[in-house]
Amino acid sequence: MKICCIGAGHVGGPTMAMIALKCPDVRVTVVDINKERIAGWNSNQLPVYEPGLSEVVKQCRGRNLFFSTDVDEAIQASDMIFVSVNTPTKTYGIGAGRAADLRYWEQCARRIAAVSNGNKIVVEKSTLPVRTAESLRAVLKANGRGCRFEILSNPEFLAEGTAIQDLENPDRVLIGNDDTNSGRAASKKLVEIYARWVPHEKILTSNIWSSELSKLVANAFLAQRVSSINSISALCEATGADVDEVAAAIGRDSRVGPKFLKASVGFGGSCFQKDISNLIYLCEHYGLHEVAEYWSQVIKINDWQKSRFTRRMVETMFNTVAGKRIAILGFAFKKDTNDTRESPAIYVCRDLLNEQAQLSIYDPRVTEVAIRHDLEAATALPGASFQKRITVEKDAYAAVESAHAVAILTEWDEFRNLDYNRIRQVMLKPGFIFDGRNILSPEASPMLCPGVYGIGKPNASART
Ligand code: NAD
Ligand code: UGA
Repeated sequence: MKICCIGAGHVGGPTMAMIALKCPDVRVTVVDINKERIAGWNSNQLPVYEPGLSEVVKQCRGRNLFFSTDVDEAIQASDMIFVSVNTPTKTYGIGAGRAADLRYWEQCARRIAAVSNGNKIVVEKSTLPVRTAESLRAVLKANGRGCRFEILSNPEFLAEGTAIQDLENPDRVLIGNDDTNSGRAASKKLVEIYARWVPHEKILTSNIWSSELSKLVANAFLAQRVSSINSISALCEATGADVDEVAAAIGRDSRVGPKFLKASVGFGGSCFQKDISNLIYLCEHYGLHEVAEYWSQVIKINDWQKSRFTRRMVETMFNTVAGKRIAILGFAFKKDTNDTRESPAIYVCRDLLNEQAQLSIYDPRVTEVAIRHDLEAATALPGASFQKRITVEKDAYAAVESAHAVAILTEWDEFRNLDYNRIRQVMLKPGFIFDGRNILSPEASPMLCPGVYGIGKPNASART
């Protein structure tokens, strides 16, 4: 069996590396039009940071795992083609800001049809609007020159930072197929691949539309939990309740469960907002306006939570941060990844820069180039006017030196273990710490230390 994957990104690279690891007899080629990305996958500096990923790649690369820019050759040589290209939110035209931009997907479909020299199974790995397979089938059929294409939906549920763990031991694998003999046969081939390491009871098969829709709904439900607990964090701050205690209490109910109840400065990442926006757009398309409105609230609360965090900082610091040095600890959208897409840090920094603050930023994995690029894109201010107000530091202690305030925006483990007494000594007085991830140890926590503010936490100054 020969497999290829078009799109060597956060999903394509790790997913194919895991298949290559578990199926040494299957030849897996990952292709991309981005030459730098492919060069990265062929080097010791992989373009995606994930704990455990480089070990898996090192074991398989050159054996049965290959990275290449020759898309046509890989399509021709493969029996099964995964498409894992980006499906961002459209920024133009009809549905701008909500609908998925499917142009990369359609380019791939047209390429597959144009160069295929035999029958292929095409697997939707990207997250797509429900009924994309229908359009895909039309494109392949019209251009396929007699080749037969079976389409499967096999959405990916991995989370960044735990990709290898999630791929090795997934909660489930979902495969949607056409309800035809050839559709079922294609699905069986994909099931056989996963069954090499995933127990059969965790491999779910369904009709193709259910599979496409389940992926959007899974992300919407996860994001909804975060927005739900974040909405309650505001009520906790107003009433003196502690959001972590509330989360622990409700999470003990087995019908609710303890996961995804961590209040934060807001959710980020490339997918939650994009996939909910897509879900909303679909609902509107089908005339389900109340359903669309219901899911819109998840995004509204998230946007509110991010701006609420900055507003609280400014208000606490005597209603002005102009000219003040503020240390930003963490820029990635979550720990253990170098991904900054839709990171709440971008929005908090943007709002602080608009308040004329000076920022000293430190993140263990995000490069200075990426930070400056993201802020340039977010602020819409002419480069020189704010880039001079940013420094990117090599460690947390350098960032906090002479700062008026510290904002913890990513829950990196190393931030839990910092010496906060030392930090308070080198900060200007009165110093403020805003913990946007509630990671501070009890000794350094808002409950005990004046000037420390958590999300949904009663604080020492308020109680005295
Ligand atoms: P990504 O941006 O990291 O990677 C996509 C890659 O596709 C890029 O390297 C790009 O150059 C390549 N590409 C685009 N058009 C191409 C073409 N015509 N030919 C060849 N290569 C092309 O994106 P990602 O994060 O890997 O996400 C891919 C899909 O998976 C999206 O639909 C996303 O919603 C979904 N998804 C992502 C995650 C995640 O954690 N990032 C998890 C589950 C699902
Ligand atoms: C999410 C889903 O968890 C994956 O199942 C899905 O495959 C993926 O989106 C996708 O489709 O791209 P990811 O965005 O990588 O994965 O990371 P999450 O762990 O879900 O975190 C998303 C955001 O929510 C982060 O900013 C995180 O800090 C925040 N979060 C998460 C909270 O604020 N509180 C929580 O309790 C959990």
